[in-house]
Amino acid sequence: MTGANTAATPLLQVSGLESGYAGMRVLDGIDLEVRRGETVAVVGGNGAGKTTLIRTITGMVRGTAGAVAFDGVPLLGMSTDRICELGLIQVPEGRQIFAGQSVESNLRLGAILRRARGHEARTMARIYDMFPRLAERRRQLAGTLSGGEQQMLAIGRALMAQPVMLMLDEPSLGLAPIVVEQMFRTVAMLASEGMSILLVEQNVAESLRLCQRAYVLENGTVALSGEGEDLLTDDRVRQAYLGL
Ligand SMILES: Nc1ncnc2c1ncn2[C@@H]1O[C@H](COP(=O)(O)OP(=O)(O)O)[C@@H](O)[C@H]1O
Ligand SMILES: [Mg+2]
Repeated sequence: MTGANTAATPLLQVSGLESGYAGMRVLDGIDLEVRRGETVAVVGGNGAGKTTLIRTITGMVRGTAGAVAFDGVPLLGMSTDRICELGLIQVPEGRQIFAGQSVESNLRLGAILRRARGHEARTMARIYDMFPRLAERRRQLAGTLSGGEQQMLAIGRALMAQPVMLMLDEPSLGLAPIVVEQMFRTVAMLASEGMSILLVEQNVAESLRLCQRAYVLENGTVALSGEGEDLLTDDRVRQAYLGL
């Protein structure tokens, strides 16, 4: 995308990022990176700043200091629309699907970006292949889907945008345990296909098992980071997040 970029440049690079709301700072100097094809988790409790991090990266919350670069392109100050056109696509917390529209219209709405033009039919076929339950329910109103199906729809909608990288905000939130398993399998499958993924989760154990690397977010700062496997056996992580 940019000439100065090389394969060694992280796809997403966040440095010293600060942001917040109306005078209240939430992110207090975040450094993190995601390399091409990597699955990286950001785990942390409720209120740690995970959603604020995603929303700052996508330009929905204004970054007040630091930098965010996607494929070498600086993002701070850029509109959310333009950031989406670069292929940095989020699956928002709480799915945010259109309940009164059909499954298929929700998917089509994912393809309104310029970058998605001409790919719609093929991507939709691939999504229906991936999620047969969505195919069976393509004409059903999205609001009548189960929580797990709605999450699949939110992921499908994001895939319609032809993402270079997906940022998933708590995809397992509010789902029954068996559906949580399916959801993590879906993320693992996308990862195995080479998708670059930033997975934000309170489900620490599953996320650390799935990802290559992870960051533990506490009070708007990175308290710990490392390989998922190592963090799973870290005493602080075991005590604070795994109840061990
Ligand atoms: N729109 C908002 N306006 C004001 N404060 C907010 C807003 N959204 C989140 N916050 C505050 O920012 C902090 C981090 O929240 P959030 O990023 O949602 O955390 P997480 O996603 O990790 O649960 C919390 O203290 C929360 O109350
Ligand atoms: Mg959140």
